[in-house]
Amino acid sequence: MATATIPTLDHDVKDIGLAPKGKLRIEWANQWMPVLQLIRKRFSEERPLEGIRISACLHVTTETANLAITLRDGGAKVVLCASNPLSTQDDVAASLVHDYNIPTFAIKGEDHETYYRHLEAALEHRPQITMDDGADLVTAVLSKHQELIPGIIGSTEETTTGVIRLRSMAKEGVLKFPVISVNDADTKHLFDNRYGTGQSTVDGIIRATNQLFAGQRVVVAGYGWCGRGFAMRAKGLGADVIVTEVNPTRALEAVMDGLRVMTMFEAARIGDIFCTLTGDKNVIGAEHFKLMKSGAIVANSGHFNVEIDIPALGSLSTAKRQTRDFVDEYTLADGRKIYLLGEGRLINLASAEGHPAVVMDMSFANQALSAEYLAKNAANLAAKVYPVPAELDQQVARLKLEALGVTIDKLTAEQEVYLASWSEGT
Ligand SMILES: NC(=O)c1ccc[n+]([C@@H]2O[C@H](COP(=O)([O-])OP(=O)(O)OC[C@H]3O[C@@H](n4cnc5c(N)ncnc54)[C@H](O)[C@@H]3O)[C@@H](O)[C@H]2O)c1
Repeated sequence: MATATIPTLDHDVKDIGLAPKGKLRIEWANQWMPVLQLIRKRFSEERPLEGIRISACLHVTTETANLAITLRDGGAKVVLCASNPLSTQDDVAASLVHDYNIPTFAIKGEDHETYYRHLEAALEHRPQITMDDGADLVTAVLSKHQELIPGIIGSTEETTTGVIRLRSMAKEGVLKFPVISVNDADTKHLFDNRYGTGQSTVDGIIRATNQLFAGQRVVVAGYGWCGRGFAMRAKGLGADVIVTEVNPTRALEAVMDGLRVMTMFEAARIGDIFCTLTGDKNVIGAEHFKLMKSGAIVANSGHFNVEIDIPALGSLSTAKRQTRDFVDEYTLADGRKIYLLGEGRLINLASAEGHPAVVMDMSFANQALSAEYLAKNAANLAAKVYPVPAELDQQVARLKLEALGVTIDKLTAEQEVYLASWSEGT
């Protein structure tokens, strides 16, 4: 875990000279984030976060930059660190510091020690609100920085794995402040996890390998929101998609979506490209590597780099070399070669750019509105995991439809009575 010393840097980025490129890319993303733009405009006028210190541990991407700017324009004092050692866009980190005056601690490819030093730097800000993608800040506060707890009014969480960690903290009674589970908003996981991860995971695998999906056997581990999205897009590109699952309902859904479902043991023998999206650990392990074809490509798009048992792959191998950016070739004792992408870290952020701005618009609109909600209501909230209030979730959907130029019908008075009544059956 982290070093004991608390750094006193006001930023730590790879190269501040990358700022001009980062600024252009941040502005590019901004134009596809109309909902966040509307929130930013209102925040600039109303300043609902005036003076509130926010530490955010998120993937440092162009979309996150626009969230950080929105919070800043709402009056918050924002500090940002990376939520994954490989997901940082160095030009964006540089621009946040140089052009937007947002202290940022994130370098793509940073080692374990630097990752945790950056987390410490974000906590040195003494946050009143923490924003996590994977619950690392909350975990650090609860395990090593309890002195910060009295000052924290609440936290928000972006991803499925983080929410699972936080729920287990709440269950064990160790959570000490309210957390809003942004991931569980309909306008987040139904779109970001499904369409965002779906497309960007395909993008990440293609950018790393330049493989054709058509005609390949693509094995998707986990048919949750992310897995469904990835399977859907891989199928659309002509892949023969195979799903592995542990949940019978999800497995059944995959069958009825027209996909082959089998165990990883069976899939390991025939797959060409494997991708884990489960939030679980050791989903692909030694017993599977032993069966894989030479040339098999293995990637992960779940939150942590534990879904593929990389140490097991290492110990089965006699040689390892990097053959392309984000591609490590492992040679097994019998000469077979297995290609691991992005060191087993979420491939859509490691070798591509993460989710497109259009979809992060909704996720980060939920983040911004949840921060405002915490600022206004935290005094009445307990140390639990709360959903995003339904009215905020629906507000995001309404604004997004408006931005897309889509209008929908409204219930008539007669229909409202009908739908609310149990007696009108005919
Ligand atoms: N790459 C990204 O940008 C990105 C975006 C959003 C979420 N995530 C992460 O992706 C992971 C999945 O998120 P989700 O929202 O789809 O979660 P989910 O809970 O909807 O789906 C996970 C699925 O994996 C299945 N599963 C668990 N263990 C398994 C195993 N051993 N073998 C096969 N299937 C197994 C579960 O039954 C479940 O259906 C999480 O770690 C989440 O934090 C990544």
